[in-house]
Amino acid sequence: MTQYSKRMVIVHWLTLVLLFAAWYLGDTLSDATDESRATLAGYIVHGLVGGAVLLLTVARLFFRGKDGTPPAVGQGLMDKVAKGVHHFLYLVLFLLPVSGMMTIINSSVGRALLSGDASLLPKKDDFEQVFTHSVHETMVTVLIVLVAVHVLGAIKHQFVVKDGLLERMMLRRK
Ligand code: HEM
Ligand code: HEM
Repeated sequence: MTQYSKRMVIVHWLTLVLLFAAWYLGDTLSDATDESRATLAGYIVHGLVGGAVLLLTVARLFFRGKDGTPPAVGQGLMDKVAKGVHHFLYLVLFLLPVSGMMTIINSSVGRALLSGDASLLPKKDDFEQVFTHSVHETMVTVLIVLVAVHVLGAIKHQFVVKDGLLERMMLRRK
């Protein structure tokens, strides 16, 4: 096999789109909390989009096990780094949504959602004591760094090495 299966490709690019949406929604939510104007809908929409990332990641690992992956491009140091980055990306794709869900349980957001009472939602600084909120924030930063390294690697393969690696993650079959 020289390319990823079609369903692996679809989930890869769909995850990218959902991550952008979740990141934007999370940032908007955080700003709203700082100004004490967050809404229940804001948490529900962010949680659903982020939760979809978790579901897609579970599906993706299942597809990976069934369909396999194309053979490694090489055995050099950079190929090992790329593989390590892939594994860390999968780890963060789990820890990020799970820490978000734990934050809802560990803060007053859970009670606010269950009772439908937006006045119970955390206000500015209320998340400071919530450990999983710090984990969630840290995971966002880790994700940004890992994706940046990952994309730089893809750019290097495309424009410097010119080995057509990107085609392995494309729907068009060779
Ligand atoms: C995997 C995709 C996700 C991404 C990229 C993401 C991203 C973010 C970002 C950027 C923030 C703002 C952090 C800050 O600067 O304070 C945030 C906050 C938050 N996220 Fe997520 N998140 C994801 C999944 C989830 C899920 C699945 C849940 C819960 C079901 C969740 C719950 C929360 C909560 C409760 C906050 C705190 C909001 C606030 O500070 O007012 N997140 N998220
Ligand atoms: C513009 C953005 C992106 C580009 C150009 C890109 C490109 C690629 C390419 C070409 C591969 C195949 C590598 C190979 O055959 O060895 C790949 C694999 C992978 N990508 Fe991306 N990617 C992007 C964004 C993302 C994002 C946002 C994530 C997740 C947070 C991600 C996670 C992964 C993972 C985990 C693999 C390994 C798949 C496996 O072997 O199971 N990528 N990416």
